Amino acid sequence: MTESTELPSARPEQWRPSEFEERTPSVARMYDFLLGGKDNLGVDRERAREAVSADPLFPRVVRENRAFLGRVARFLAEECGIDQFLDIGTGLPTQDNVHQIVQRINPDASVVYVDNDPVVLAHGRALLADNNRTTVIQADLRDPGAILAHPDVRRLLDLDRPVALLLLAILHFVPDEAEPHALLDELRAALPSGSYLAITHGSPDLRPDVVHRLEEIYSRTASPALARSREDVARFFGDFEMVDPGLVWVPWWRPEQEPAEDSDLVWFLGGVARKP
Ligand SMILES: C[S@@+](CC[C@H](N)C(=O)[O-])C[C@H]1O[C@@H](n2cnc3c(N)ncnc32)[C@H](O)[C@@H]1O
Repeated sequence: MTESTELPSARPEQWRPSEFEERTPSVARMYDFLLGGKDNLGVDRERAREAVSADPLFPRVVRENRAFLGRVARFLAEECGIDQFLDIGTGLPTQDNVHQIVQRINPDASVVYVDNDPVVLAHGRALLADNNRTTVIQADLRDPGAILAHPDVRRLLDLDRPVALLLLAILHFVPDEAEPHALLDELRAALPSGSYLAITHGSPDLRPDVVHRLEEIYSRTASPALARSREDVARFFGDFEMVDPGLVWVPWWRPEQEPAEDSDLVWFLGGVARKP
């Protein structure tokens, strides 16, 4: 059954979908739906439900990715003393966004969110209206130069001091033709020593049939996805030094409690590395 297309319930005055956006599932809005959010349309829910039929564990995979984000943000702010965050591929605001986590630890921490989906910009701006240490900009990971030169990045982040660059659940939306390894070379080179890079990425290594089926489903969205092998994902860290426990399935990255039994079916890899 196809549901009617409704406007998102939250702050609808901020965003009106274009014709293309009404017709085409957005990975940001599908992710919001999978996390239990309300900022999504019928087309997004339909495609997300198809993905859940292909992998009933998919909502769990997404939640595990989000839990990784929380642990990483706390680790960087608390244990590494990082107070500047560049989060590319932010997604729609949900509970415990990066700025909320790190500013609880350090109220002076700065966060710049970057996403290429206009709905993220609209909702992010509404959430951040009264936060002068955090902003959201609309830009594309495939143009790192524009991100690094953006006036809001220059205003809020001092690129002469360590920065944490977060690329969580975004790189699988960058196809090989866009040369993601070269993009990462450029971003890593722009960061000073002592900076951190955190990545999560879908990988076919664990459950290839399921993941390839999901790639096919995501090929019918605005952002086709490509899962990559562990080896390929590891290359994104370049010569940065991996923090323990290295690049692992996300439930096993510094878990705060024993991972649930079926955690070995969670096919997202995640890791954090430090620039020497
Ligand atoms: C699955 S969500 C991940 C959200 C968040 N990083 C997390 O891990 O919870 C992926 C986000 O990346 C954004 N995105 C995809 N391709 C992008 C690109 N080339 N440049 C900027 N953002 C992109 C999407 O719009 C979406 O909001």
